[in-house]
Amino acid sequence: MSKKHKDTIQVQFAKTVEAFSKYAVRDTPEILAEKVEFARPLPTDFALDVACGPGELPLALASRVRFARGIDLTFEMLLQARQFQLQRNIQNAQFERGDAEQLPYCGASFDFVSCQCSFHHMLKPELVLREMDRVTKPGGRLVIIDSLAPEGDAKFELHNRIEKIRDPSHAETLRLTTFLALFEKFSLEIARQALKRRPRSFNQWMLRAGLEPSHKHYREARKLLEDSFPGDRAGFSPQLENDDIRIVHNEGMFLLVKKSE
Ligand SMILES: C[S@@+](CC[C@H](N)C(=O)[O-])C[C@H]1O[C@@H](n2cnc3c(N)ncnc32)[C@H](O)[C@@H]1O
Repeated sequence: MSKKHKDTIQVQFAKTVEAFSKYAVRDTPEILAEKVEFARPLPTDFALDVACGPGELPLALASRVRFARGIDLTFEMLLQARQFQLQRNIQNAQFERGDAEQLPYCGASFDFVSCQCSFHHMLKPELVLREMDRVTKPGGRLVIIDSLAPEGDAKFELHNRIEKIRDPSHAETLRLTTFLALFEKFSLEIARQALKRRPRSFNQWMLRAGLEPSHKHYREARKLLEDSFPGDRAGFSPQLENDDIRIVHNEGMFLLVKKSE
């Protein structure tokens, strides 16, 4: 990942940490609980969450595992994660700064390694998966959750164009077929897979990226989205709702097993 892109990520997430973690939060507590259930954590697990942001997933996992770590590039996100940890009095978790492309851990350090809604920020998703695989013990598990882009080229391009106007730190939302090919490349066996439709408010989604309706990037993204209504040309299944638009992110959840050597 280029230094420029990493700088953009840190600027973007330092700016949006409050919206992201407090007033335009992505997942309801029910959806977070659903993700924890999907992951099937074990009480003996040493767990790592990569690109943990404000730490909601590792903090939710902490009550179900032996120890949960979170790592992220953005300092402000880590401060927020530590604040949530203190408020919730969670003892068996720790947050540290680091790069998903170069995880600062020895090989086979963790039983469980997750990454939620962050692959689309990675310029080199294959390198990130390689690192996640490296730090997972043989027989250990990986959980990857992220939005999925439409398979067709035209929809894929418009979908990612709107995402990138909204958030300059967006790299590329991957297709389901791209994820599946990546898992195969690392011989990761799919133990569970779920495809979920996650309805979202366009206005909240924009707010989470720091964009009010008066912002030129809000207007640009909205115009493209409105133009995409006929034939759902960007793959967001948009529906007008008063001054808002209901959109849908197709989310893939994958529980993968690293084969024992
Ligand atoms: C959309 S947020 C998701 C945060 C969290 N996983 C969640 O679902 O709430 C993306 C996060 O990825 C982090 N990130 C992006 N690239 C990274 C990298 N190369 N290494 C570590 N963290 C990274 C950002 O700092 C940000 O906190």
